[in-house]
Amino acid sequence: MDFELTETAKEVQDAARAFAQRLKPQAAEWEEAEAIPADFLREGGRLGFFGLMVAQEYGGMGLDALTYAIAMEELARANASYQGCLSVHNSLVCEAVQRFGTPDQKNRYLFKLAAGEVIGAYSLSEPGAGSDAGSIAASAVPDGDGFVLNGEKCWVTNGGIAGLFVVFVSTSPASASRGISCFLLEKETSGFTVGRKEKKMGLRASDTRALEFKGCRVPRSSLLGSLNGGFKIAMSLLDGGRIGIGAQAVGIAQAALDGAVSYAKVRKQFGRRISEFQLTQAKLADMAMGVDAARLLVRRAAALLSRGKRCTKEASMAKLFATVTANRVAYDAVQIHGGNGYIREFPVERYFRDARAGEIYEGTSEIQRLIIAREVLRERAS
Ligand code: CAA
Repeated sequence: MDFELTETAKEVQDAARAFAQRLKPQAAEWEEAEAIPADFLREGGRLGFFGLMVAQEYGGMGLDALTYAIAMEELARANASYQGCLSVHNSLVCEAVQRFGTPDQKNRYLFKLAAGEVIGAYSLSEPGAGSDAGSIAASAVPDGDGFVLNGEKCWVTNGGIAGLFVVFVSTSPASASRGISCFLLEKETSGFTVGRKEKKMGLRASDTRALEFKGCRVPRSSLLGSLNGGFKIAMSLLDGGRIGIGAQAVGIAQAALDGAVSYAKVRKQFGRRISEFQLTQAKLADMAMGVDAARLLVRRAAALLSRGKRCTKEASMAKLFATVTANRVAYDAVQIHGGNGYIREFPVERYFRDARAGEIYEGTSEIQRLIIAREVLRERAS
């Protein structure tokens, strides 16, 4: 196994680090405003971060999933809200069109998505269907040469800034998860409304919305993949999405560790720097080990995906381990800062809140355990 990054991966990592230097100082202000300014979204588009895995023939960077994950970690280390926007856009929306779209759908959307001219959102969850994604109630019924959508969605990252929504609705309610279809819905479609912006604990600059469809008419050409084939699209996209969230967790954890190390080296108590105390050192050692282990799991899952292999188990392991680690590392970083970790003067307070989302969105830790256990039992079936 070669742990050395390719030349391309190193270049992309450097480019992500350079852009991250621009994003980092903005994080506190953006979370107060609960929004990412449009000029920073445009800049990310110009630099290629909105089309990382989109093929070059469609205006993207044409990178593999491993290089994508490396870029995602660097951006999350600086500004997790911005990276959350990119993660959903790249892995759940660009990939949806690239992997499952017709040539017409690709031509219509991929260039604009890759340039960041159109931002993407992915909408699966509903008020009554979170972990049990197969039980969604929003529906689409055939009508003339198209479909009419009705129902509600929630927890949609990028909801208020997106121009294109990858939406999952039931087209055969009696068939549960085998009766779900995926549609590419444009923001301007009549009967489609973007609802309130959620007031979140963390990742506050990331725009999370509810959606409503009321007699929302879409042409048949907006169906992505086959009729009633949407659930497998949703699940296989989430394999890649969870790598992006795992990378986000590694980035947040690395930032929390960096902050804790810097603070421990200057903060003095009992006449010594607190970094000289073994209780502090034990924390730093566990934090550093967790960050490295999480990074390796994320990169392993991403390397599998890069080779076109199914990575359901590995992506769930990566997301679960990395997000649990980020929560623990951010907790310890706050502890090392003492009272200063509990106020907004220092960024560890934000890392602590940002990290919390990772164990919930794109599948809770409980769902990741369920997926991992299913795969392990299937592999060992006798
Ligand atoms: N890739 C391809 N196919 C897959 C798959 C995968 N990763 N996972 C499942 N499938 C297939 C199965 O093989 C099965 O196929 P058949 O019909 O041919 O047998 C089919 O999909 C149904 O699979 P399951 O029987 O496993 O389905 P289930 O109803 O038991 O659900 C679950 C499984 C893992 C619990 C799933 O519902 C799940 O992942 N839940 C969590 C959903 C989630 O992560 N939601 C967050 C969405 S992100 C969001 O909302 C925020 C945002 O902005 C991004």
